[in-house]
Amino acid sequence: IVDVKGGPDEGLDRLGQTLVVKGWVRTLRVQSSVTFIEVNDGSCLSNMQCVMNSDAEGYDQVESGLITTGASIWVQGIVVASQGSKQKVELKLEKLLMIGRSDPSFPIQKKRVSREFLRTKAHLRPRTNTFGAVDCFDMVMLSYIGVDVVASNISPIITGSDCEGAGEQFCVTTLDFFGKPAFLTVSGQLNAETYATALSDVYTFGPTFRAENSNTSRHLAEFWMIEPELAFSDLNDDMACASAYLQYVVKHVLEHCKEDMDFFNTWIEKGIINRLSDVVEKNFVQLTYTDAIELLLGSNKKFEFPVKWGCDLQSEHERYITEVAFGGCPVILRDYPKEIKAFYMRQNDDGKTVAAMDMLVPRNFKYSGELCPSSFGVIGMKLKLSSNPPPLSLERCSFFCQVGELIGGSQREERLEYLEDRLDNLKLNKESYWWYLDLRRYGSVPHAGFGLGFERLVQFATGIDNIRDAIPFPRTPGSAEF
Ligand code: 4AD
Ligand code: MG
Repeated sequence: IVDVKGGPDEGLDRLGQTLVVKGWVRTLRVQSSVTFIEVNDGSCLSNMQCVMNSDAEGYDQVESGLITTGASIWVQGIVVASQGSKQKVELKLEKLLMIGRSDPSFPIQKKRVSREFLRTKAHLRPRTNTFGAVDCFDMVMLSYIGVDVVASNISPIITGSDCEGAGEQFCVTTLDFFGKPAFLTVSGQLNAETYATALSDVYTFGPTFRAENSNTSRHLAEFWMIEPELAFSDLNDDMACASAYLQYVVKHVLEHCKEDMDFFNTWIEKGIINRLSDVVEKNFVQLTYTDAIELLLGSNKKFEFPVKWGCDLQSEHERYITEVAFGGCPVILRDYPKEIKAFYMRQNDDGKTVAAMDMLVPRNFKYSGELCPSSFGVIGMKLKLSSNPPPLSLERCSFFCQVGELIGGSQREERLEYLEDRLDNLKLNKESYWWYLDLRRYGSVPHAGFGLGFERLVQFATGIDNIRDAIPFPRTPGSAEF
């Protein structure tokens, strides 16, 4: 039924048919001769325009003021060609039934409200165009990611309310799990490694939790991660898989979510369709961490955090690399110093670096007075550190989308003795990793994998600027209300 309003010409082939729609009133315009009710049932972005004359059954409910924004209704009518310019067809109502009233204090009336405000109404914001679009888009994208049950990412796992009211909830901090400490997982990787080292290529997708107190537009305390793990693979295979995977997902949403993409392009980030098309078509830049440091040192730019080999890259450095040095191209940085990376990453032959990779994506940016360059001129060329700096400067850009690191991965340390050494050096408790070490004791293979943060992917592909708006119920430090 709701297909009727799918596209500019859709629905015309249903002219004359009788349809039933169950949904929520978005707007209501009562005129002397006719009433217009826009209804949305969540199945697509556009509303169904219903036209009601005073002789239709149930009109008394309109007359008495019962039908208000937010109310749920059942309507039956005939599809007719619309007089209006916004839609080809509309529903000429024969019958209207009120299902659930909406209190007049319903906070989402037909006016622009801030996303900050909507975050405080997270239980209602799916009823807005933006969140309807972002959330449905999530589901479609999930199916392209390879998840069979697409409605799986709505319920948060951390919550402030007791669903059964029986007081049987685990505390989220250090859990006392039947006498042993347990934690909420930060990544499914180690488990995926056990499967990869038995079944070859696998992936896991699930909620992950970080107890870091990061209040930024790209950090959540609870987020979903897609984690492929490839057996018999090295870092080059890993980077190739990550790039192809991102391109595959982006290509599919461009092809199959046209209505949503047009919406994002108009309302959220102008030019996002071009930006994503570029991502699909171009190769990504690859650069070692060491070359990136030289690039930053040679830039003559005064960074707030000074650069030196061994330092963790800050977002200002990442921005310089993706947006200034490479004109808006995704960049994969590899071979990081082992001191700033996790224990499981494979040590390179130089003894100082590990086979790690981070894919950094440019935030969307625009220049004041000029157009963004749309092509990645430097792709495929060997980076010449002595070459003239590109004619762009961060000061002239205004930034919207705050994604930065979209993917993090590595080749795993498959050599038992190296891994044990590393655990010892980091003073990590070897006993608690006994099963992980066993993978190296029994049939160890070179393997590699990565993690793609789903909400950062949604941010990247919708242009939504705060990660809190890329997930139905954001969990951030101090916020677990809904
Ligand atoms: O770089 P991270 O921490 O890597 C891992 O967890 C690996 N074990 C993954 C693997 O190799 N299987 O996280 C991977 C990705 C990041 O690149 C980012 O997209 C996302 O997960 N991410 C977050 N997203 C939202 N909020 C946070 N606090 C995030 N931390 C990481
Ligand atoms: Mg990382």
